[in-house]
Amino acid sequence: MIRIFNNLESLSLAAAEMFADLANQAIASRGRFCVALSGGNTPRRLHEILANTPIRDQIRWESVYVFWGDERCVPADDSRNNALMARKTLLDHVPVPASHIHPIQGNLSPALAATQYEAELREFFGGQTPIFDLILLGLGDNAHTASLFPHTPVLDEKECWVKEVYVAEQGMYRVTLTVPLINQANEVIFLVSGADKALALQSVLEGAYQPHELPAQLIRPNGAHPIWLVDKAASHKLVAETVEPA
Ligand code: 6PG
Repeated sequence: MIRIFNNLESLSLAAAEMFADLANQAIASRGRFCVALSGGNTPRRLHEILANTPIRDQIRWESVYVFWGDERCVPADDSRNNALMARKTLLDHVPVPASHIHPIQGNLSPALAATQYEAELREFFGGQTPIFDLILLGLGDNAHTASLFPHTPVLDEKECWVKEVYVAEQGMYRVTLTVPLINQANEVIFLVSGADKALALQSVLEGAYQPHELPAQLIRPNGAHPIWLVDKAASHKLVAETVEPA
């Protein structure tokens, strides 16, 4: 499903409403809501809306468990740290118990951070298949998502749930959930905003299937299409019949 919104504000409001609905459904049926947050800038407004009334008061935060889809290998107080961004824009403002917040340790060596996070996930999911209720993702202008970057070995990972990846164009290591884990999720929602994403979005959704070039094409939760919440600027290259106005 691809839903088009006028702008980031209306996209973020719709995403917050979907977050609240999915949270309440999961908590009602399974007693908890396991979510993996996205990094980058696009989710900031979603976080702010979730952190304020009325939506903040519609969610039983004491039953929410927070993980991340990826992290940059930087210290926790570094402005590029995804967990820091989420704390400032959301987690410091809602009553999620501290023990329910599971950041990736970006300050550790990349390989150790990856194995440690996988161990944490295996313990949390009790060795069962790790099924997140919701994974939030973004889209880079090179069609990467989480830290699944074009032409990186992590794209072919079949066993590990978490992997370190070196991103040459950024000269940095990152740690990311892998495709097999992401595709176990009950729901995956992409948030995509801005004209600079239009070509990547069009290629991912309407272009030839070439996942090493366009890693976001690998995201197929349970074999189905993820949900795309995009704004007009990001969608302006899409062919009309593939989208539905929000
Ligand atoms: C990260 C993200 C990454 C992000 C895209 C889009 O850590 O950077 O997980 O995959 O979602 O790069 O980033 P923007 O939202 O900043 O455009």
